[in-house]
Amino acid sequence: MRLDLALLEARLGEQAGLFTVDALAVCDSTNSELLRRADAPSGSVIVADRQTAGRGRRGRSWLSTPENSLTFSLLWRFADSPARLGGLSLAVGAALAQALEQLGGQGIGLKWPNDALLATADGYAKLAGILVELASNRDSCQAVIGIGLNLAPPAGELEQPAAGLDQAGLPGIDRHILLAAILRQLAVTLDRFAQSGFAAVRADWQRRHVWQNRPVQILDAGATPLTGLCLGVDDDGALLLETATGVQRIYSGDVSLRPAKP
Ligand code: BTN
Repeated sequence: MRLDLALLEARLGEQAGLFTVDALAVCDSTNSELLRRADAPSGSVIVADRQTAGRGRRGRSWLSTPENSLTFSLLWRFADSPARLGGLSLAVGAALAQALEQLGGQGIGLKWPNDALLATADGYAKLAGILVELASNRDSCQAVIGIGLNLAPPAGELEQPAAGLDQAGLPGIDRHILLAAILRQLAVTLDRFAQSGFAAVRADWQRRHVWQNRPVQILDAGATPLTGLCLGVDDDGALLLETATGVQRIYSGDVSLRPAKP
């Protein structure tokens, strides 16, 4: 059911003025819809019950069950050029995890560059995906930050195990409460990021990093997989991998990270 904007505003409290929210029953993709609204002010939010062409990273589609997910996008403007926005999607992940924990969520971790995972009996399952798309002109940059969050795991064939908030200690959570908590934390984190860059959020991200100091493999289409010890991330959001030839910085988000085989 479409979100009630008055209820959401009440939950946003003093921060309600920062956001202009549009709740849709259906759209192709909340990111695409927001990208089409070129003059939308910073703080514009589109939340949709159902996406007909939800998009994920690396050209993938994002599947979600309408009654069991929260799918929304937030537009945020920065005075910086896109080159200075390294680590933005990691900062968004840290804000998301923090908001879920404030609501009582448990077992939530982060995977580089921008997945929220849930610890399960068999390892980790994907709880949420983040897709940040940037557009810029000469003196500013806008980020469309899309988040797809499972309230319960989606049904159907999935590329990787999926989890829902119902398994994270938040069964039946109200979507107004959930969205308001995430937007409130995003406003705080994005302001810190705008002022001091990812360095200001790095510790919050790394504390929840599921592969911290563990052996991993980085898969890049066509390239030989890189294996090493995952040292975390640097102040630009690059992944630090200790390999036999020294510490390598991985900047590209177009790679897959897997636990190394023992
Ligand atoms: C990923 O893990 O690949 C990123 C998934 C991002 C999905 C969200 S759902 C809301 C927003 N609209 C989209 O089309 N994609 C993002």
